[in-house]
Amino acid sequence: MKKSVTASAPGKIILTGEHFVVHGAYSIAAAINKRVKVNISNTTDDSYIVSGSSRSKMAENDGRFILVKTILNQTIGKKSKNGEVAISISSEIPAGSGLGSSAAVAVATAAAALKFADLEVDSRKIFEIALSGERKVHGNPSGVDIETSLRGGLLLFSRNAGAKPIPLNRTVQFLIVYSGKPRNTSKMIDKVGLKKKQFPHFFESLTRSASFLSLDVVDAITVGDLPRLGALMNISQTTLSWIGASTSALDRLIDDLAAQDVFGVKLTGAGGGGSVIALPKPESIETLSQFASKNYPWSLLKQIPQEGLRWEE
Ligand code: MEV
Repeated sequence: MKKSVTASAPGKIILTGEHFVVHGAYSIAAAINKRVKVNISNTTDDSYIVSGSSRSKMAENDGRFILVKTILNQTIGKKSKNGEVAISISSEIPAGSGLGSSAAVAVATAAAALKFADLEVDSRKIFEIALSGERKVHGNPSGVDIETSLRGGLLLFSRNAGAKPIPLNRTVQFLIVYSGKPRNTSKMIDKVGLKKKQFPHFFESLTRSASFLSLDVVDAITVGDLPRLGALMNISQTTLSWIGASTSALDRLIDDLAAQDVFGVKLTGAGGGGSVIALPKPESIETLSQFASKNYPWSLLKQIPQEGLRWEE
C-alpha cells in the first residue's frame, strides 16, 4: 500500500543574540513565511533523497544530505519494516542564506519521519532529533533555529531557559535581503569561539549585554516602540561586527539600507555572508521594498510572526 507523509516548516530571522546564544545569552528569533516541504513515501527503488536536481542514495556515503540521513537513521532506519523510502525536499529558502533553511529541513524531516515510521510524534522528540541532525553539520548549534522553525511565532530563547513565545498583538514588517553570498554556520561558530578564547572577559560582558538587548527587544516590540527596536538592532550589529560575524560585503549592504528610511538594520543569523534585516519606518515600507527589489536579486518584505511546523496534504 502506498504510504506518504508530508510536513513543512518555516525559516527564521534572528532579531538579537545570534552567536552569543551559543554561549548562553538570550536571543530573539521569529519564523518567516518561506518554508521547506519534506515528503516521505515508500518506493520500490533503493531508498533515496532528492532535492531539485540533486539526488543521493540513503546508503551512499557521498557527503550529501548528511543532515537528512542522520535524522532518517534515527527514525525510519530503526524500523526495518518500513522498507525502502523516497524523501523529496522542496525549499523556498535559499540554502546558506542565514534564513534557517537547514533547521527547517531538519524539523520537517524529523516530523515526517516520525509519523511515517508510526513513532510518537511529539514536539520535544522532533526538537531532539532535528537538533542532533544539526549538530552533525553545524557542530555546536544552540537550538534557536530549530525551536523557531518548530514552534513558529516570535521567541525568546536561551540554552538554559529554552523557548518562550512572545505574544504579539500586531504584526511587524521586516525587509530581508540576501547578500547572495552563502555562509557556513559551523565555520562562523568556530570563528566566534576563537574570539571568546582571545578575549574571555570582554566576551563574557558582551554575552550579558546580548541578553540585555534581547530582553529590551521583547519590551520594545511588545509596546510597539519601533524606533527603540531599530536602535537595539543597530547596537546588536556593532557587537556582531566586533566578533567577526560581519563582512565588508554585508557592511556595504547594511550602509546602503541604513541610508534609506529605516529604524535599524543588521545581519541576521551566523553572518560571514547570508542575509540582513531592516526595520522600515511604517510610512516608508513601500518605497523601501521597491528600492530593494530594484537593487538586490533576492529580497522580501516579511511580516512576523508566522506559523511553525505543519502537516501538508
Ligand atoms: C544561526 O542562525 C544562529 C547562531 O547563533 C548559531 C546557533 O545559535 O545555533 C549563529
